[in-house]
Parts: sequence; C-alpha cells; structure tokens
Amino acid sequence: MSGQSQITRALFDEVMVPNYAPAGIIPVKGEGSRVWDQQGREYVDFAGGIAVSSLGHCHPALVNAIKQQADKLWHLSNVMTNEPALRLAKKLVDNTFADKVYFANSGAEANEAAFKLARRWALDKFGAHKDQIISFGKSFHGRTFFTVTVGGQAAYSDGFGPKPGAVLHAEFNNLDSVKALISDNTCAVVLEPIQGEGGIIPATAEFLQGVRELCNKHNALLVLDEVQTGVGRTGKLYAYMHYGVTPDILTTAKSLGGGFPIGAMLTTTEIASHLKVGTHGSTYGGNPLACAVAEAVLDTVNQPEVMAKVLENEQLFRQQLDAINQKYQVFSEVRGKGMLLGAVLNEKYKGRSRDFFLAAAEHGVMALVAGPDVVRFAPSLVITPADIREGMQRFEQAVKQVVSA
Ligand SMILES: Cc1ncc(COP(=O)(O)O)c(C=O)c1O
Repeated sequence: MSGQSQITRALFDEVMVPNYAPAGIIPVKGEGSRVWDQQGREYVDFAGGIAVSSLGHCHPALVNAIKQQADKLWHLSNVMTNEPALRLAKKLVDNTFADKVYFANSGAEANEAAFKLARRWALDKFGAHKDQIISFGKSFHGRTFFTVTVGGQAAYSDGFGPKPGAVLHAEFNNLDSVKALISDNTCAVVLEPIQGEGGIIPATAEFLQGVRELCNKHNALLVLDEVQTGVGRTGKLYAYMHYGVTPDILTTAKSLGGGFPIGAMLTTTEIASHLKVGTHGSTYGGNPLACAVAEAVLDTVNQPEVMAKVLENEQLFRQQLDAINQKYQVFSEVRGKGMLLGAVLNEKYKGRSRDFFLAAAEHGVMALVAGPDVVRFAPSLVITPADIREGMQRFEQAVKQVVSA
C-alpha cells in the first residue's frame, strides 16, 4: 500500500480534534469547478469551500501569482512592510469607500479588529460609557470569543465561560428593534448585508438605510461584515454597493484570497487613526504570499464582464432550481444574490437541509447548508454554464432521492 492510500477518513477520527464532521470522501485535486476524490470520482463544486474559491480551483492567474511570489519572499511579519501588501491595500482603497486597510488572516480576525477599533474609537472620542455593540439574531461573525459573542447564535457562544459584555442583539430586518436598543451608548451596529450562515437572508434596502440613519443620529459606527458577500460574490465588488449605503468599517475575507487565507478590515482615515502603534496586530497579517494571491483575485474578479457573468450565472441557477422545484415541490423560495443563493425548504422538508446536502454529494455535486432549512450554493464566480447545468442535473437526482425516500 502506498503512503497516499493509507490516508483515510478513519484517520481523521483517530488524530483530529472532533469539532468537525467532514464528509466521508477525501478530495485530492481540483480544477475550475470540478473536484476529484482519492478514488478518482469527480464532483461539481457548488460549495466553493464555503464561498471562498471565488475563481474555482487552481485558476491559472492565482497559481501563477503564488508561484512567482514563492520564489521571491514568503514572510517578514509587520516589523517590515512588503510590496504585495501595499499593492493590494492600494487597490482595495481605490475601489471602495475606504482610505485605510488592516490585514488579518481570516474573517473572524478581521471582525475582531473591527470590533476592537469601534470600541477604541468610541472610548477616545466620547468616553467609556459608549461601549455597546448592537448585532442581530442569526448573525455570524466568526469563532473567536468576541466574534461569537457578537454573533447571534447562542449555540456557538455559550459554554465557554463569561463573555465579553455590552453586546446587544436586535432582530434582522426589523428597524424598530434597532430603535429600541440604540442610544448614545452605542459604539457600533454590526451586520451582514446578506446573512450567510443564518440562512441567506438579504437585508432590505429600507432596513440598511434606516440603520445607517440611526447610526448617524447616535454617533455610532456602521460595521458591515462582508466576509461572505464580498469580492464580487453578489455581482458587485462589495454588497454595500447595491444599497447606496456606505459603512464606516467593512470586513472582508473568504473570496478575497480565493482559497489562500487572508482577511482585511477597511475603514476611513479618521477612524483608523484610533488604532495607534501597538494597539492591535498579527504576525501573519499582510503576509506577502497571501497578498500576492489576493491581488491576483482582485485583478481578475473586479472586471465589469466578470460582475455581469455573476448575475447571469445567478439567473441560470434560479431557472434550474425553479425547474427542479416545479417537478418536486421542495422549496418555498430561492433567495440571495449573485453566487450566494439559498434554496429555502418548504414546510414539508423543513429541518432536512443536511439530507439534501448528503444526497447531493452522493450524486456528485458539492452543495452547502445554511442552517437546517436552507440548501446553500456559493460556487466559483466564474463557473461555466455547462458546469451549472451538469451540477443541477446531479442535484435533481439528489432531490429525487430525498423526496422518494
Ligand atoms: C459573515 C461571516 N463573517 C465571518 C466569518 C468568519 O470567517 P472565518 O471563518 O474566516 O474566520 C464567516 C464565516 O463563515 C462569515 O460568513
């Protein structure tokens, strides 16, 4: 037996901390929106590594960027700056509301920086009383202790001892619930333009605009968590661009690295000035390899024809899902935007998203869930229509199997 074939799923249970329950297969190779497992079985990838692989697997521009940088310089830490980090930061600034960028390694770390900055900004400018963060039920902002506490899912934050305080939760898309909590003690309101893990729930325009106005009225910062919605996923570089609402702080990760770990916090010069030397940091944040790959992602994705393609792909996904639904009546609606879509299970199939996800994998298509009631699709932004059609044929077989079981 070769060394390769001894690596089995059973080894996971033997040597890994049991906080994940990965699928039975072990993928070993990917190209575009196709993935192959150890046995050579091929899958259509509608999951994108949970909204990460924005250009599919092994995109030539990203492979080239990492190879070039790998031959030059891997790491310095932030005692020195580096060219890829500065080039990437300049491009993020040039293409968004922001003037300044802080680099992290993940979405949670970008959010951790955002929440600490909001607190520090408010402390410096208004005093210690202004420390309240308002977030929303079902929201998800990462797994560090501050970010699970701000997140709106007790299952992720409970059972770890005392939580960071002054975090309040309102109801998403309910402006009155924000009005009831916001005051001059609020330092920030934090939200996802489309709640991802919570079930692919888009903020309404009135809600987001209303939250912006309430933040202005109470001198609170609007923090948009675009970790899942960012970098072209909704058909604009960032989802806030659909709404005509400008945040004070924005966080981005996932698609930014197209599969290489990187996160970033974007903000204005004035707000950024409150994270003075020594107040926050990270050994790896702004790592040259990560930034070189992210620069190639941004250059490739931030093109009008790619953004148009994302919206065309959304239409094809919706048509295909509607056709499946007409045959099998499993969804009550399809919601989301661009390549972040959720098929909401109707009353009859409520709570069974995992069954659809498992059946999909059995039939050769990788999907995701977003809670118990929603099957989520977050594929490559540049997935081809042929791959969408092939994946949907397989998904139809999966739906058929669940419905007939
Ligand atoms: C909206 C949002 N914020 C933050 C995170 C956390 O990102 P990471 O897992 O990279 O820490 C996620 C991950 O799913 C997310 O969807």
